[in-house]
Amino acid sequence: MKREKLMRVGILTGGGDAPGLNAVIAGATSVLLKAKVEVIGILDGFAGIYDEQVIPLTYERVQGIHTRSGTILGSTNKRGIEDLELFRKQYQRLNLSGLIAAGGDGTFKGLSSVKDLVKLIGVPKTIDNDLPGTELTFGHDSAVSVVAQALIELKESAYAHNRIMVVEAMGRTAGWIALNAGIAAMADAIIIPEKECSLEKLAGHIKANPKRGIVICAAEGAKIDGQNFIQKTIANSPETHRLGGVSEYIANRLEELTGIEARHVILGHLQRSHAPTAFDRSLSLEFGVKAAQLALKGNWNQALAYRAGAIIPTQIEDYFGSPRVISGQHPKIQLAQSLNLWI
Ligand code: F6P
Repeated sequence: MKREKLMRVGILTGGGDAPGLNAVIAGATSVLLKAKVEVIGILDGFAGIYDEQVIPLTYERVQGIHTRSGTILGSTNKRGIEDLELFRKQYQRLNLSGLIAAGGDGTFKGLSSVKDLVKLIGVPKTIDNDLPGTELTFGHDSAVSVVAQALIELKESAYAHNRIMVVEAMGRTAGWIALNAGIAAMADAIIIPEKECSLEKLAGHIKANPKRGIVICAAEGAKIDGQNFIQKTIANSPETHRLGGVSEYIANRLEELTGIEARHVILGHLQRSHAPTAFDRSLSLEFGVKAAQLALKGNWNQALAYRAGAIIPTQIEDYFGSPRVISGQHPKIQLAQSLNLWI
């Protein structure tokens, strides 16, 4: 009797980590193993293909990982597919039926450049929630929870000392984390990259509405007087600039303008390394399961997207456009305004 060729599927995580990556791995692996498919974990994104660093994914290996942040496979936001020929050679050695890759546009673009070779299912990922093809990415809810909790707690210290506390959230192009966390914590002001911010106007608002203990949530990509705050430059990264420092500038300037003492807190990678919320765990497990189901059906070269409350397959190219930023008319902006939060 002729035996069907057994499937061997690779799983890879690329770009910056996001809470829920491990749940994607667990969800996809469980479905594939149940269907008697061999599952291979590729370590450190594309580096694992170049350097042939892979591990078998078994039930034991993925058991319980859905509750942990990070990724058991490792990731990098530095290495892309620079050497196509070497990539081709190394990928072929892995003898994979296809690849499930959780990543952002950089990961998808890289893999699409070798489309004739790699059968791909893309799972969108970023805490920033700004990928163009999807209305929501896993990890975002967890990041928002971290920031909202910090704002709520820092309100106490701001009140105790009658200070302004400026909290800096991630979000280089889009202010989704700052906006959603600012609303959830009812921060006094929210500063996002999409809306030009005048600190003179904000200081005027603070002076006109005196209050003890003010908290402000600012996205790292917020532009003050049209200027971004670059913390460091990383030469071999698709995004060369790392942002940081806007909160310190805002705090110092507001102190000058209002006469109220001000401090700043940069939450940084805490937002990425907090354990995924229950919502993110469930969302990521579903992304993993749906990716594996597409692979089993042979529906390769697609990406998943969350739209109108459901995870659906879509074109990988949907992720190649500009980041999904917040429009001035977005209902969340209106909600913040209705709550009298300065934005
Ligand atoms: O894209 C996600 C993100 O978290 C950005 O908000 C942030 O600017 C960047 O990654 C930080 O990346 P790194 O891990 O290189 O510091």
